[in-house]
Amino acid sequence: MDPELPGDESWLVKTEGVPLPRQTTEKWDQISAFQARPDDLLICTFPKSGTSWIQEIVDIILHGGDLQKCDQLPIYERSPFIELFLPKPVVSGVDEAEAMPSPRVLKTHLPAPLLPPSFWKQNCKMIYLARNVKDNAVSTFNFHRMNKLLPNPGDWNNFLEDFIAGRCWYGSWFDHVCGWWEAKNHHPILYLFYEDMKENPAQEIRKVAEFLRFELSELVLSQIVQHTAFKSMKANEMTNFTTLPSSILDHSVSSYMRKGTVGDWKKHFTVAQSEWLDTICAQKLKNGPSFRTQL
Ligand code: A3P
Repeated sequence: MDPELPGDESWLVKTEGVPLPRQTTEKWDQISAFQARPDDLLICTFPKSGTSWIQEIVDIILHGGDLQKCDQLPIYERSPFIELFLPKPVVSGVDEAEAMPSPRVLKTHLPAPLLPPSFWKQNCKMIYLARNVKDNAVSTFNFHRMNKLLPNPGDWNNFLEDFIAGRCWYGSWFDHVCGWWEAKNHHPILYLFYEDMKENPAQEIRKVAEFLRFELSELVLSQIVQHTAFKSMKANEMTNFTTLPSSILDHSVSSYMRKGTVGDWKKHFTVAQSEWLDTICAQKLKNGPSFRTQL
């Protein structure tokens, strides 16, 4: 067990300085040697930033707006999560990706410096979706409560401190959003914000389509906006994660599609916690992206 990491389980192990689930670390050589293909599209996020939302949008665009084609498989089966490894029953993101025909859409939560090098070498297109740290922390806290593969988050105050100090999975949120922000200066990365997607989904979906070089009619665009709205994704079995057993995701504790808003953090943060975090953000995001915490 790493004495710097919280919890009584040795589920997090530092890999190249970043705490990752132990099972990912054990397969690190295989993950790091993963062979990307030039036509791969990689979706990258810090966990709980709206990964499933952008995955669904991308999938529909790539299927030319054919919603029925997209609704045939749960979202987590459509784009392999490259660093995921679970022993029982065996799930290996790398193996799933290798078995998949091109063109592939892949998912990762890895920080930019830990990405398998072949993605950079092959010059793959990537979409990064970032979410403000306050809502991200609250969403992560609730996800830890309902995901039975993750340790119980315990008390909110302690959890928040650990999260901000980078003692949670995937390490520092600040390093993550800033590392990918920097990476877009030398790589084809579309960097999006959750808050912009909430404010003007049609505009952001258009950006994604242009990046993927797909033309969308106004009709298809409005269908995608409707189909990927929070309410629709929450009601859709193929996107709401209720197809996983409750021994993995316990929706009676909290839903995967929980609130889907900007500003839910206000119900959890004290004024002191909010001000403390604002000071840290001002310092750590000085040369990085700017976030809105309310609309
Ligand atoms: P909340 O817990 O704040 O509700 P990820 O897919 O990366 O795990 O992110 C999950 C978060 O994104 C959850 O946030 C979830 O509700 C939100 N989300 C998922 N789909 C969404 C959508 N279509 N619109 C808005 N938020 C969405």
